[in-house]
Amino acid sequence: MVSLAKSIAVGVIWFSSIVAADSDFDWRTIAASETLSWTACYEGFECSRLIVPLDYASPSSGNASIAITRYPANRSASDYLGPVLLNPGGPGGSGVDYVVAVGADIATVLGDGFDIVGFDPRGSSSHPLIQQLANYVERELWIPAALNEVYPSLNESESALAQQWARAQIQGQLAVERNQNYMQHITTDNTARDMLRITEAFGWNKLQYWGISYGSVLGSTFASMFPDKVGRVVIDGVLDMNSWYSGNMTNELVDTDKALQFFIDACFAAGPHSCAYYARSTADISKNLNDLMASIKTQPVPVITPTSYTVFGYTLLRNAVFDAITTPFQFFAPLAQGLADLTKGNASTLYANFFRAINCGDSMPVNDSVSQLQAYYSAAQEVLSPLAIEADCMYMQGLEDTSRGPLRPFGASNTSFPLLLIGNTIDPVTPISGAMRTAALFPGSVLLTLDAVAHTSVGAPSTCVLGYLGQYFRNGTFPAEGTVCSPDDPLFPSDNVEHSTDVQGRDIDTPSELLPAGRALSRAYRRVSSKMHIAV
Ligand SMILES: *[C@@H]1O[C@H](CO)[C@@H](O)[C@H](O)[C@H]1NC(C)=O
Ligand SMILES: *[C@@H]1O[C@H](CO)[C@@H](O)[C@H](O)[C@H]1NC(C)=O
Ligand SMILES: *[C@@H]1O[C@H](CO)[C@@H](O)[C@H](O)[C@H]1NC(C)=O
Ligand SMILES: *[C@@H]1O[C@H](CO)[C@@H](O)[C@H](O)[C@H]1NC(C)=O
Ligand SMILES: *[C@@H]1O[C@H](CO)[C@@H](O)[C@H](O)[C@H]1NC(C)=O
Ligand SMILES: *[C@@H]1O[C@H](CO)[C@@H](O)[C@H](O)[C@H]1NC(C)=O
Ligand SMILES: *[C@@H]1O[C@H](CO)[C@@H](O)[C@H](O)[C@H]1NC(C)=O
Ligand SMILES: *[C@@H]1O[C@H](CO)[C@@H](O)[C@H](O)[C@H]1NC(C)=O
Repeated sequence: MVSLAKSIAVGVIWFSSIVAADSDFDWRTIAASETLSWTACYEGFECSRLIVPLDYASPSSGNASIAITRYPANRSASDYLGPVLLNPGGPGGSGVDYVVAVGADIATVLGDGFDIVGFDPRGSSSHPLIQQLANYVERELWIPAALNEVYPSLNESESALAQQWARAQIQGQLAVERNQNYMQHITTDNTARDMLRITEAFGWNKLQYWGISYGSVLGSTFASMFPDKVGRVVIDGVLDMNSWYSGNMTNELVDTDKALQFFIDACFAAGPHSCAYYARSTADISKNLNDLMASIKTQPVPVITPTSYTVFGYTLLRNAVFDAITTPFQFFAPLAQGLADLTKGNASTLYANFFRAINCGDSMPVNDSVSQLQAYYSAAQEVLSPLAIEADCMYMQGLEDTSRGPLRPFGASNTSFPLLLIGNTIDPVTPISGAMRTAALFPGSVLLTLDAVAHTSVGAPSTCVLGYLGQYFRNGTFPAEGTVCSPDDPLFPSDNVEHSTDVQGRDIDTPSELLPAGRALSRAYRRVSSKMHIAV
């Protein structure tokens, strides 16, 4: 997801991770070096820490080190196809965790000739780490277990927005005070430079890369800075570069409501046996949902499970709905069941399926005044629906993005290899209009469309898309201009409706192992992109 957007820029880190990192590997046991030196780690992976300059303009003034994990290629040296770098979004999402979770699946999609490489962007769990809280005691005090009370929906109460603003002041100030010497070097530009260093450390001189969501900003920033270093670059769930860097993301949420409407339509089409939230018309489903939202606001529901408990209120409901429309093939059916149960006063289905420790409320800016934010929020309400405006808070509106580095035009007409972009017809976070605008900045690039409601192609497993990805990386071939793929799975599992496979993408050969790999990518993506390592 793109939710961390400007918060990194202004030094607020995402306090989402109350769960421990996946890591059972102690990175401190390996020494950082200027060349890649591999140590076995996790199961079947290799890890290394690469030294890069903290400040590329002044390399002697300090070092940073980047945590790198690879799922190694399974080829002799003569058939080796080089490293493919992954970025799962965030920003700040851990490429290491992503590759540890699904390196083998990515190798299934791209081929075993590549090293599948995850790296943790500087400022996340690479060194330097942005550090705000001095220790676990501070963290426990500052981040109570009931995260949804701390980071409510902005519309949960009159004071929610002002409260968020005040918390963000503290977080931003701590980040700056406690990380004085390097905050200014935690930038997207520098992460792009780091990617070139990593590529070169593999003995390769052009980048091979698959970037998802915020990873599209990183990929297109790289291609703008180093057009002659583009080997293969795929950007998937593409943000409009100009919206991103101007800090106004209102235009980026144009498809959020369409995605919700799609859930309603799909539920109706699936019928009462497949969709538990079925009603006699789409208008009835829509009305039921609105009524439920309104009622939960005044009357939250207690949930007690054997392992935890919470008060299930408006914020959690909103988050569950938003989650479901970003990964519908996993979550439409559980959402429908959960909404039906909640209508009867039972929130345990939704809680069990959707509870996650984050929402967009924690990425509030530190530099706008509270009245500026309130003005933005009310202005946005005139153009966006309630659900979209809630999503909009993820984008840290109206803030200058200091992560950018020097201003420069974005795009390049002379990349050494054309980019492949992937956009979904209805993406609630990164609409296809953003992909089109970014594609226009890179003449010669090709846009592959996935006819699905979901955030990024990873949110809607499609063997058609995965087949084209493999061909692009292995052979440098593109789908024909205008190709549209479809996802493979039904939205509601017991749904008997025959789902079309793809419209024009049938020439692609799609081995049977692609679909399980795609589903694994989808599950892991949601987990990794919604988690940040908290620095203590
Ligand atoms: C950066 O790392 C290199 C290689 O270990 C070392 O020679 C150099 O002194 C380091 N620079 C700083 C400023 O620490
Ligand atoms: C590829 O993987 C197989 C099975 O793990 C292994 O036996 C073989 O040595 C590997 N080949 C290369 C070239 O790495
Ligand atoms: C690509 O074009 C830009 C300006 O359009 C130019 O500055 C740059 O030198 C070109 N790079 C190559 C490798 O041709
Ligand atoms: C952001 O963009 C929207 C849509 O173009 C516009 O209505 C709004 O005024 C902009 N907000 C700011 C703060 O510039
Ligand atoms: C709530 O619904 C779940 C799933 O349908 C069920 O297992 C559970 O017993 C229900 N809880 C209550 C308190 O009714
Ligand atoms: C915050 O705003 C002040 C005054 O407008 C400006 O001087 C400062 O550079 C801004 N800080 C950031 C991080 O944008
Ligand atoms: C906030 O809640 C009010 C009352 O429930 C509703 O009318 C309004 O549309 C909501 N706005 C947003 C942005 O969610
Ligand atoms: C590989 O690329 C070449 C030239 O771009 C093309 O002719 C060939 O059909 C491609 N092979 C496959 C298997 O896609």
